[in-house]
Amino acid sequence: MDRRKFLISSLASSALMAAAPALSAFSETAPASDMLSPALQQKLAHDPLRPQFHLLPRHNWMNDPCAPRYYKGEYHMFFQYNPDAATWGDMHWNHATSPDLVHWKHMPLAIAPTPGSFDSFGIFTGSVLPGMEQATVLYTGVTKSTPERETIRGGGLREVQCLATSTDPDLRSWNKLDKPVIDGPPEGLKVTGFRDPCPWKDGDTWYLLIGSGFTGKGGAVLLYSSKDGRNWSYLHPLAQGPWSGPVPGKTDPVDTGEMWECPDFFPLGDKHVLLYSTERKVYWNVGVLDRKEMKFHTEKQGLLDHGFYYAMKSMEDAQGRRVLWGWVEEHRSDEALRAAGWAGCMALPRVLTLAPGNELRMDVPAEFASLRRNTQVLPPPGAPADMTPTADQIQHAMATMRIEDRAGEVVCVFKPGDGTSTLELQPNEGGAPLVSMVYNGDIAAPALTIAEKKLKLTPDKAGFSTIHVWLDGSVIEILVDNREAITLRDYSPAGGDIQISLSGDAASLRSLSVSGIKPISSDRLTT
Ligand code: FRU
Repeated sequence: MDRRKFLISSLASSALMAAAPALSAFSETAPASDMLSPALQQKLAHDPLRPQFHLLPRHNWMNDPCAPRYYKGEYHMFFQYNPDAATWGDMHWNHATSPDLVHWKHMPLAIAPTPGSFDSFGIFTGSVLPGMEQATVLYTGVTKSTPERETIRGGGLREVQCLATSTDPDLRSWNKLDKPVIDGPPEGLKVTGFRDPCPWKDGDTWYLLIGSGFTGKGGAVLLYSSKDGRNWSYLHPLAQGPWSGPVPGKTDPVDTGEMWECPDFFPLGDKHVLLYSTERKVYWNVGVLDRKEMKFHTEKQGLLDHGFYYAMKSMEDAQGRRVLWGWVEEHRSDEALRAAGWAGCMALPRVLTLAPGNELRMDVPAEFASLRRNTQVLPPPGAPADMTPTADQIQHAMATMRIEDRAGEVVCVFKPGDGTSTLELQPNEGGAPLVSMVYNGDIAAPALTIAEKKLKLTPDKAGFSTIHVWLDGSVIEILVDNREAITLRDYSPAGGDIQISLSGDAASLRSLSVSGIKPISSDRLTT
């Protein structure tokens, strides 16, 4: 998202909000997303680029996941949403629920800006405030500012941290506190932004991180503590990073690492993990929380995804797994988004664990296997477990392997050799491949190049690597050895089935499995 546009839309949206109903009316009203004309509904249901097994709103724009949680037997996902258009602006929290992380039901809009108040310019990203008697969330409210207090550079706007509670068993409606719990950055700090609260509870103390940064120095997460979850005291930065310096034409501090947004922080195994988004990338840091000094020390760092994946947020699921959600961004023009009538979706959830060497491991939950259909495998069922398919067998099998309706999954296991091999997903009606994955036979540092990005391979003990691809309309998510990930978009209009092809050193392929994936709704409305 372009921050220039962000500011302009913020200001423009104030005009829209003048006509918006009061907050109390929002929870009663049918959601804007229910009011699809039959013509729009038809158009969305037949848009081949619209995902069929990823969560997305019925129409219009979405971005960051907010406050995902398991509550009273159901999963709840809130997310950044513009009820007025398929482009960013007028930020609300939309809401969907799921019994199983896979199937979703759309709920009414959850939290809307209150005209004339501390959040009248937007309900930005936030998190669950754990350990409270009532379901509670913290979110960033955006409001008008004097130049001295502004936290969004050049926007005449400032960010404050707000609290809302719900007494509904299905978390349908939310009551806001009548004033922010944190009304601005700590006195005397020259910050580059102040948003996206991420709290946790340790004993009888709550802690809170806020995405921020220091002008001319670099991104940071600011740490606060509280004894009641409402009165917060600033402590210090929990962690901070370097600024890459000014870049001509880039004024948004996020673009140069001068501001970190959407922090997430949680224990994993015997370590802690800090995630944040900056420079349009998402980073993971595995390290140690020094509980005495309340400082986080990174031991290992990596990119969580090399593609169009941003602003992630995690939760603990019903089985105690740490599940990560992220926003799949678009990269087509606003004009194209408006014409499509929708923008953005939620990435497939990823279960996070620590891999040997304290690297982050990501697995799509096994629950998604229930959506597979028409699975075709090579070697064929019943073949000896250690059979290596011949080039002829591979070509023969691939000639019949198909993904219909752009919804499918490919799992490819191979043993990197000296040669180069290329695995492609290609429309059978012709046209450019949707994705090309090139193994470049550098045994010392085996890597897979996808969309000009070099992803490190981490072969298993037997030397095998696994590429896992999910294709859903225009969304392509790829996990490599469950360590590296890349999320791609392909907007090519080519219809027909998608074929799999392998060229180059066929001897490297050990097994291949291609499945269709069942849609989670009959009309691509994902509910
Ligand atoms: C990240 C982000 C957040 C902010 C939200 C606004 O995508 O910029 O920092 O809260 O989007 O929609």
